[in-house]
Amino acid sequence: MNYQFDYLVIGSGIAGLSFALKAARTGTVAIVTKKDKLETSTNYAQGGIASVLGPDDSFQLHIQDTLTAGDGLCHEDVVQMVVRCGPERIQELVEMGVAFNRGTVKADAFDLGREGGHSRNRIVHAQDLTGQAVEKVLIARAEENPNIHIFENHLVLDLLIQHQSIRSGSISIQQQDICRGAYVLESETQEIHSFLANAVLLCTGGAGKVYLYTSNPDVATGDGLAIAYRAGARLANLEFVQFHPTCLYHPQAKNFLISEAVRGEGGRLIDKRGRAFMQNYHPLKDLAFRDIVARAIDTEMKKTGDDCVFLDISHKDADFLRRRFPNIYQKCLSLGIDITTDPIPVVPAAHYMCGGILTDKKGRSSIESLYAIGECACTGLHGANRLASNSLLEAMVYGHEAAMDCAGQIDSWRKRKLPEIPECFAGKGSQNEPMLSEMVLIAHNWDIIRRLMWNYVGIVRTDKRLTLAQNHIAQIRMEIREHMPNIPINADLLELQNLALVADLIIRCAIQRKESRGLHYNLDHPLKDDENWLKDTVVVRRDAEE
Ligand code: SIN
Repeated sequence: MNYQFDYLVIGSGIAGLSFALKAARTGTVAIVTKKDKLETSTNYAQGGIASVLGPDDSFQLHIQDTLTAGDGLCHEDVVQMVVRCGPERIQELVEMGVAFNRGTVKADAFDLGREGGHSRNRIVHAQDLTGQAVEKVLIARAEENPNIHIFENHLVLDLLIQHQSIRSGSISIQQQDICRGAYVLESETQEIHSFLANAVLLCTGGAGKVYLYTSNPDVATGDGLAIAYRAGARLANLEFVQFHPTCLYHPQAKNFLISEAVRGEGGRLIDKRGRAFMQNYHPLKDLAFRDIVARAIDTEMKKTGDDCVFLDISHKDADFLRRRFPNIYQKCLSLGIDITTDPIPVVPAAHYMCGGILTDKKGRSSIESLYAIGECACTGLHGANRLASNSLLEAMVYGHEAAMDCAGQIDSWRKRKLPEIPECFAGKGSQNEPMLSEMVLIAHNWDIIRRLMWNYVGIVRTDKRLTLAQNHIAQIRMEIREHMPNIPINADLLELQNLALVADLIIRCAIQRKESRGLHYNLDHPLKDDENWLKDTVVVRRDAEE
């Protein structure tokens, strides 16, 4: 099939939906999402959205907290913009029907939670299911909108890039790449469709699945990063992977986060012997920045040989805990852990990618008509470490900015000639069942990549581990390239290809940065080097690269 829309949005989380709902005022929108429309990182976000809403708070304080977390690499103009736009975007969510918690302190005022690194209570939330509350409302609004069409189980293979010569001045000719759509695999039928669009929005979320332990859902395979890179876009700061300090540690629990809000409400980290340890690492103790807490837990686990540490909130009133954390309470109880009486076993896990596709303040990437919003973007807001609960905020603000930018250009875009669409390389043989003998190759390489990244490119890195990881990943990528032509195209293979590329890019960025800053900690370069490294690490596709 050949589809044609004004806007092609890839991903159905808060970034894609915030954009789509506004862009639908000026054109038709296709949202393609690789699984069920609700299967997004947004849907699993527990904590909430940071914004200046309390009487004791100010934009300046939120800006300062964000800059401090970012450890010198935030772009201050971006931080200013995002923080100042926050209250308006929250108000829009309320008007669309999101029911945030209110009334504990003052009738009708938002209940504002606290998380690590925030100097004030400023996290609006819907119990501990904020993302789900937001996602449901945005999906409902999108489904009511006749200009928005949602395609579930559609996975993007690659972008359609038009190479164009443009005259600048009287003699010089420049090459310009314009994004005109994407090839998309419909998983159920194995058909490949082309989606033509005047603008393409990458809103594909993060890449937590590149690591063995992650709080991210299975869809977080870094697809947007990989396809943007293959198309020639500039990416940056991928070494800054945020490890959330507290994921539930239990053999039957997969990717389940114990929200930082638990520490915000007084939860304390202790070891197996019941000893609190965060006072040994930072004056803010359990509410220090995430990188510090995650490294402290890693150090304690290595020192004691224990498999996990514990988060204890059992000193708080049991009814309060059940009301404030219904999701965490129920999940833990289902595994035999009563959080009102028992400490919760936790470990750090990959949680958020602070780097991504480089964009400007409108969400524009380095390729014309290609935008990136949300976790897959690197806007300059997070710098070397994201302040908790700033991500949903960023996604909403950039969804708005990008939609406004597109509204100003859509009329001229519509006048562009339609491009010819070359046949997709993967079209042949796509109707066949994947060969089972070869599927083992996919599963095996998935496992190797995730374990390798956890052990060698995790919370604490060294030059040697990074080089070894780079060599291993190169080997795996070669294997994938050699065997890909023999395996009919399928979602697992595409995800593996993307995952391997993203792993390689993370390592390339990590190798470039010869210092320790924010989330990147290298034992061979343990100090911050402001003289040489107060800058982003940029990666762009090399000419000879496949
Ligand atoms: C959490 O609830 O701890 C996650 C919030 C975030 O990552 O921003």
